[in-house]
Amino acid sequence: MKKNRYFEYEKKIEQAHQQLKLAYREIKESYAEMIFRFALMAESKDESTGTHLVRLADYVTEIAKGLGLRGKDIYYLRYASPLHDIGKLAIPDAILKKPSGLTPEEREVIRKHTILGADIFKGTRSPLLKAAMLINLTHHERFDGTGYPRGLKGAGIPLYGRIVALADVFDALTSRRPYKEAYEFGEALEIISKESGKYFDPVIVRAFLKRKNRIRRIWRATKDIEGFVSEL
Ligand SMILES: [Fe+2]
Ligand SMILES: [Fe+2]
Repeated sequence: MKKNRYFEYEKKIEQAHQQLKLAYREIKESYAEMIFRFALMAESKDESTGTHLVRLADYVTEIAKGLGLRGKDIYYLRYASPLHDIGKLAIPDAILKKPSGLTPEEREVIRKHTILGADIFKGTRSPLLKAAMLINLTHHERFDGTGYPRGLKGAGIPLYGRIVALADVFDALTSRRPYKEAYEFGEALEIISKESGKYFDPVIVRAFLKRKNRIRRIWRATKDIEGFVSEL
């Protein structure tokens, strides 16, 4: 009799545990999806599509693995990187959508998307959103100190920013824009390699090249948001 009751309790605890796990998974998934859809708003402002964000998340994941990062770092990078240009929401369309011939002042306004994006997350207690803040602020810094907004140099640029910078540029190179054709995979790799130590951290470039085959698969796949969400 006593033994039976014990087994009943055990079964109930196991059921509660499973329900809790399911609820946690649901919250985590909808949180990640919301972040992604929020990021998509900024992206659609300058007429790029969600596929850039999906590839970016996949590229940074590969770089992180190439660097030997694991667990939470990969999670934060993967889900915070799509937010890198969220500050563009605060940039007037007249400037953001200007086809060519930006004045120096207008260029300055566009550069502000880094600071404006970081401001959105000011004071957050969430480690994931702290990562988003850092990425917003530093994804246009360059290893040699010629980037913006602060002209940070080398290891002075937070690691997440250095990783997203490379992935973002690689995807821009391999994407067609109204004003330019897309570079072939090999050509883009060459450009990235040549910028090692200048635009990009050599350590990040090495990690990226180490994962070349997987990067090529992502480049070929043209996965969209449905594909991204289905993998959550
Ligand atoms: Fe940006
Ligand atoms: Fe981007």
